Amino acid sequence: MSDQRLSGKTAVVTGAARGIGEAIARRLAQEGAAVVIADIDLAEAQAVAATLPGAVAAHVDIANDASVAALADFVGGRFGHCEILINNAAILDMTGIETMTMAHYRKVLDINQDGAVRATLAFLPLIKAAGEGRRIVNIASIMGVRGQPDAVPYSTAKGAIVNFTRAIAADLGRYGITVNAVAPGFIDTRMAHLPDGSGHEHDTDWFKDIYLKYGRILLGRAGTPGDIAGPVYFLCSTDAAYVTGQILLVDGGVSATF
Ligand SMILES: NC(=O)c1ccc[n+]([C@@H]2O[C@H](COP(=O)([O-])OP(=O)(O)OC[C@H]3O[C@@H](n4cnc5c(N)ncnc54)[C@H](O)[C@@H]3O)[C@@H](O)[C@H]2O)c1
Repeated sequence: MSDQRLSGKTAVVTGAARGIGEAIARRLAQEGAAVVIADIDLAEAQAVAATLPGAVAAHVDIANDASVAALADFVGGRFGHCEILINNAAILDMTGIETMTMAHYRKVLDINQDGAVRATLAFLPLIKAAGEGRRIVNIASIMGVRGQPDAVPYSTAKGAIVNFTRAIAADLGRYGITVNAVAPGFIDTRMAHLPDGSGHEHDTDWFKDIYLKYGRILLGRAGTPGDIAGPVYFLCSTDAAYVTGQILLVDGGVSATF
């Protein structure tokens, strides 16, 4: 039984209408937080919020300055404070250096890299004005600490998220605000479905090579959204009060070997 350790706190989770963000939102709500389910897909966000006591859905496009500012205004007006910001929203993009254009690169970075920066800037006044237990958790990726073929904009953005985490932890420690990142490995969400609709990442030869042939996933399975939500909750909890500037790889052990 949860001891509702986040009672009285407001948590904003971007990209919370499905997948990892939804699982994080559910876990934070279970622990007592009032959760803002913020997503570009308002209908899906509303469907999630309707199942969580105290939760509210809100539209946001994290690639748009005015939209992110409007979300912060909404949260400020509704709750007056924001203790927890989870920068989770992103898109998958599998483009290599030989096919990439600068326009495409900038578009992906505007969402996957600048989106977290934009949201952090917009919410910082509300977070600074809040009470105890102020937390920012950025969702990075194993692809932000390792390379992979055909993933230049995505990996570059996630690598930036990793060091953005450390950089703002250095700035915000003086306020007692902790900033950490969780870097997931292979998690079974809609993002893991191939963009051309031809199937699932887990059915591809390269995944089977990692998963079956070389046993790179030490735990022998893809992760679930819940596997990420638990570590994110830990970083938001009082147990993690002295943890900041850290990157927690939650990848079934992929990064532990070579
Ligand atoms: N699934 C994986 O294997 C995996 C691995 C490593 C990292 N991640 C990271 O985890 C996070 C969540 O991924 P997921 O697998 O749940 O993906 P997903 O595609 O299932 O969900 C992403 C959510 O973000 C929302 N979104 C997309 N663009 C947005 C925008 N511009 N503004 C607001 N919301 C937007 C979508 O509507 C969706 O609800 C992402 O940061 C992703 O990069 C995922």
